[in-house]
Amino acid sequence: MPLVTGKDLLVKARAHQYGIGAFNTDNLETTQAIIEAAEEMKSPVMLAITEGAMNHSRKRVVDIALYEANRASVPVAVHLDHGENYEICLQCIRLGFTSVMIDKSHLDEASNIAETKRVVEAAHAVGVSVEAEIGVLSGIEEALNVSADHAQLTKPDEAERFMLATEADSLAIAIGTSHGPNKGIGRPFIDHERIKAIADRVPQPLVMHGASGIAQDLVKRLNEAGGALKNAVGIHDEDSAKAVTEGIAKINVGTDLRLAGMTALREVLKQKPAEIDLRKVLGSGP
Ligand code: 13P
Repeated sequence: MPLVTGKDLLVKARAHQYGIGAFNTDNLETTQAIIEAAEEMKSPVMLAITEGAMNHSRKRVVDIALYEANRASVPVAVHLDHGENYEICLQCIRLGFTSVMIDKSHLDEASNIAETKRVVEAAHAVGVSVEAEIGVLSGIEEALNVSADHAQLTKPDEAERFMLATEADSLAIAIGTSHGPNKGIGRPFIDHERIKAIADRVPQPLVMHGASGIAQDLVKRLNEAGGALKNAVGIHDEDSAKAVTEGIAKINVGTDLRLAGMTALREVLKQKPAEIDLRKVLGSGP
């Protein structure tokens, strides 16, 4: 099945109220696991790659993602997650990405609009879709370390102005989620009223970053196998499912995959201390 753009997947998802999973990948094993799971579920999927993942693999993760996407039996978009600037977005477009995110959410509104518009013009000229962001999530956004105290949730009127001005294809909004394994205490707060208010004004697909569920049985297994993950809390499935009915069309998940991968690694290393075949270690799953 050929690669598809982010827009191809997300417009339909918003219209029919389902969510497309965008999963972060850094390597071969994770990429194959994401594609295999999507094929098993007969579900379209987005492979999300950060600049950090590209640097780590000297861009080979992109070749792997494009190769796997092209031969998958389900529609797949290859997406740049949290593109920091115009240059990286253009580099990714040249490499074959079908979707890029430009994240200038830490700038003032006018600068965010101006920078996003530049990327939209270039990307649209070659049929690539663009995700943008306004509002600030707490937690770590790759290079960006945003303090929870300064997290600013997305304002509906600003979101509307921003999308009219930039013509971006989808919009990441700050609604209470955060990146990483520590999303709050108890059941993390999701501002459902805010999602609905933004969706009333923005017809484009909305994106929820920081959507990992952080399965507690995996946290327990990780820690029993020597891990030390403390206060790990994620987004409840019911909150994600509700958000999808309210206008969220793309659900970003990275930490859950890291948690699953590290749990499996710790367990197999503990159970088989004499194993030295890397393939047998990396081939394990939780
Ligand atoms: P998690 O850290 O919740 O997996 O979120 C990932 C993400 O939003 C990537 O953009």
